Amino acid sequence: MNRTEFIQSELSEGIFTLRINRPDKKNALNLAMYQALADGLRKADEDAGVRVILICGGDDCFTSGNDLADFLNAPPTGQNSPVMQFLFAVSEASKPIVAAVNGLAVGVGVTMLLHCELVYAGNSATFQMPFVNLGLCPEAGSTLLLPRIMGHQRAAELLMLGEVFCAEKACAVGIVTAICPDGDVLATARNKALQLAAQPAAAVRLAKSLLKRDYAGPLRETILEEGKQFMARLKSPEAAEALQSFMERRKPDFTKFS
Ligand code: COA
Repeated sequence: MNRTEFIQSELSEGIFTLRINRPDKKNALNLAMYQALADGLRKADEDAGVRVILICGGDDCFTSGNDLADFLNAPPTGQNSPVMQFLFAVSEASKPIVAAVNGLAVGVGVTMLLHCELVYAGNSATFQMPFVNLGLCPEAGSTLLLPRIMGHQRAAELLMLGEVFCAEKACAVGIVTAICPDGDVLATARNKALQLAAQPAAAVRLAKSLLKRDYAGPLRETILEEGKQFMARLKSPEAAEALQSFMERRKPDFTKFS
């Protein structure tokens, strides 16, 4: 097991596992974690010994998304920021990505799933994309991918109301491949990863690239445009109020902004 502080990685039987492991902060992703994920994904994509990438969190939390304190103290400033590096790495990987989701998946914890081939979630997993709630805008190419998989109205509901939704709904709208009993998620995801790893690797990679052929270019442009808007929104009074209210553990008050 090769450890950085909060991202653990391991290569076994052709499966490169990236495990998010910061349980005291609900696996919130800080700058170093994004960088470790980006580096891990790039390295795995180039390593001939890796056939499948598996992303998982802990038993009760996949990730609560971007570290909100970082939004205040170390916001992303451009294409080279660790979060953008991670988004490019996860969206441009040529090898198949499998995800195992237990517990909470918030923000980028949901949008990163849109770039995976197989996503397994526990029956009590919950999902939320609260970008608008935070005065921000959707990211990770989600404004392109969500309407594509579920239609404009269902995507708008999930992105604009930003409510928590259950694994059954995540499966019904196409974010999740299948739901498993909570205790079986990682084993199921790993078994499916092994099944994929036994397939002819070049054919799998070709299938992946063909599946994405008609939107790979627009996807990168969308990630860049969303990123630009997101970084600008981080300086907005609405986001300042939302982030401050999270730190102060109170409800935000947006009534003073038009
Ligand atoms: N960024 C930074 N810290 C976070 C975090 C995040 N995204 N999510 C959770 N934490 C921290 C909390 O501040 C708390 O830290 P503390 O113990 O030092 O006070 C700890 O993790 C536990 O979180 P808590 O809120 O007490 O747990 P909960 O089970 O009541 O709620 C969440 C969990 C994820 C629903 C809630 O923490 C939350 O809404 N987090 C923000 C999610 C978010 O908006 N992500 C960004 C999306 S773009």
